[in-house]
Amino acid sequence: MKIIRNILDLNKAIKDFKNFGFVPTMGGIHQGHISLIKKSQKQCKKTIVSIFVNPTQFNDNNDFKKYPRNLKIDIKILKKIKVDFLFIPNVREIYKKKIKNFKLYKNDKILCVNHRKGHFEGVLNIMNRLLNVIKAKYVFLGEKDYQQLFLIKKYLGKKYQFKIINCITVRDKNKVALSTRIKLLNKKNYYKVSLISKYLLKLKRELSINISRYNLSLLIKQNIKKLEDLYKIKIDYLEFRNEKNLNKFNKRGKYRLFIAYYLEKVRLIDNY
Ligand code: PAF
Repeated sequence: MKIIRNILDLNKAIKDFKNFGFVPTMGGIHQGHISLIKKSQKQCKKTIVSIFVNPTQFNDNNDFKKYPRNLKIDIKILKKIKVDFLFIPNVREIYKKKIKNFKLYKNDKILCVNHRKGHFEGVLNIMNRLLNVIKAKYVFLGEKDYQQLFLIKKYLGKKYQFKIINCITVRDKNKVALSTRIKLLNKKNYYKVSLISKYLLKLKRELSINISRYNLSLLIKQNIKKLEDLYKIKIDYLEFRNEKNLNKFNKRGKYRLFIAYYLEKVRLIDNY
């Protein structure tokens, strides 16, 4: 595995490759990332992974500071699974060029956009910078961050000639969606997350039998109250959205149930 720390070396290293897959990460490599990488390795000649904890997408400086980092272990794992290139730039390197920031359209101001000021502008900013240098044919992104995947496709899909490959959420045996943030949970809270996840998976299963007979806004209200009371969490949102365009679900087409909540100080998101 070739480790690259600056854009000049990156350009040199990848100039001869066309068919390569890109897996952007902020490190804390887990089975979810590994499944994206494996998919890329199957589909592409070469795979490049980036690790960069992007400060501009954190709306809370404490959250940025606390974000789990362990580069040594990450490198070990990525070497073991035979990643071709690992790009680990620092902040100065990646932000040295002046590039205009993205402004979100009004109809994209939903779900996490309304709760994490500037977060997705930061995600689009970094992805724009990374894709500018990593001209990947395929970008592998997990459906756990479904809104992120949707916005990257919408705002950057036309600018660069890449295809996003949606990868299904990897859950552990307790139905917890794998993410770097779950490393911040203690045992008791991890258990709560697993119960919440099982609860919502069951709810979605029950609804899928005949969704038309439910009053969805009432059902949402009742379930927010129930989950908040039962697990002492603070829910930012629990919403049904159309899978294709993230419009409010009107009982037509495929939908997903989206949740974001705080469990003590850790903010978690998921969708089912
Ligand atoms: O999902 C993540 O890890 C990050 O948001 C991403 C896409 C690597 C951009 O920093």
